[in-house]
Amino acid sequence: MAKTRAAITGVHGWVPETRLTNADLEKMVDTNDEWIYTRTGIKERRILKTEGWATSDMCAEAVKGLLEKTGNSPEDIDMIIVATVTADMVFPDTANTVCDKIGAVNAFGYDINAACSGFLFALSTGAQFVQNETYRKVIVVGSDMMSSIIDYTDRNTCIIFGDGAGAVLLEPNYEDHGVMDFVLRGDGSGRHLLHMKAGGSLKPATHETVENREHFAYQDGRKVYAHAVKGMSTTTEEVLRRNNMTADDLQWIVPHQANMRIISTVAEYLKFPMERVMVNIEKYGNTTAGTLPLCLWEYESQLKKGDNLVLTAFGGGFTWGALYLKWAY
Ligand code: COA
Repeated sequence: MAKTRAAITGVHGWVPETRLTNADLEKMVDTNDEWIYTRTGIKERRILKTEGWATSDMCAEAVKGLLEKTGNSPEDIDMIIVATVTADMVFPDTANTVCDKIGAVNAFGYDINAACSGFLFALSTGAQFVQNETYRKVIVVGSDMMSSIIDYTDRNTCIIFGDGAGAVLLEPNYEDHGVMDFVLRGDGSGRHLLHMKAGGSLKPATHETVENREHFAYQDGRKVYAHAVKGMSTTTEEVLRRNNMTADDLQWIVPHQANMRIISTVAEYLKFPMERVMVNIEKYGNTTAGTLPLCLWEYESQLKKGDNLVLTAFGGGFTWGALYLKWAY
């Protein structure tokens, strides 16, 4: 008998209505549409403007849609994991707030903070509970309200990031479909190259940290770029090798949407055709933990049962990895 796997049995996404276009950014910082599009592949991003809303509200919208689509009620859910770096508050976690907002009274939850690799880390974590038959219905959400930590006077970062949420339902599968394997990595020595300088226990908020604009995301774009290409390419190769596969055995690669040039360089390195690489960066920019589930959501209608997918990401920490998934429906 095949071992119990954790399969994705539904996916849903939610993005705010407000669009921040390259033309809008031209009015805010010294940049232009041509530079942004050729360097990043981004045309616009979504920004959450709803008064009183935060990351948990985007998660709740994605999860509500997911429950409706999969015919589940909130009470059926055992656990919710939220991958995010923009939790509603430093504490408590966002996942329990989401449980409360959607009425998942039988669920518990917690957040995973692994920046742009967050969804990958959360999906592999959630899969363990299902594979071990501890829980039967686990929801994994990737969501970030990056607009809450972006400095809209810094052209190095404000052109890249956007807001959004994507959620998947994990359930047991006995046909050898679902999460098959993963390679996850971290290197904390890269933490200064992509981080928020203040607001944590190392440097709590003061007038000075606010004046110095230290409560925003900072990155050394060039260095992050090089590490991202290498990290995503090598872990994808490794997960394929471990499963006696090559890129030819894959129907889809689902890359973190950080920069179109990173995505195409990874595909080129793997000799994988771009038509089978999921891309939506043009519309949403980099939504950090949201990119992978938002891609799955948008490409869901093109996926077939038995398709082999590799999800790969790189993010602050540094954190990175690749996850091999066999699509179950
Ligand atoms: N508009 C116009 N010019 C800009 C600009 C902007 N928005 N941002 C930077 N520039 C300028 C720089 O000041 C620099 O000018 P200089 O040569 O006179 O110093 C020039 O453009 C080139 O800058 P550089 O940083 O080398 O550009 P780049 O090709 O590396 O692109 C990023 C910058 C940020 C788009 C790119 O490095 C990147 O995407 N990195 C990865 C970021 C990422 O993925 N972060 C999320 C974590 S996964």
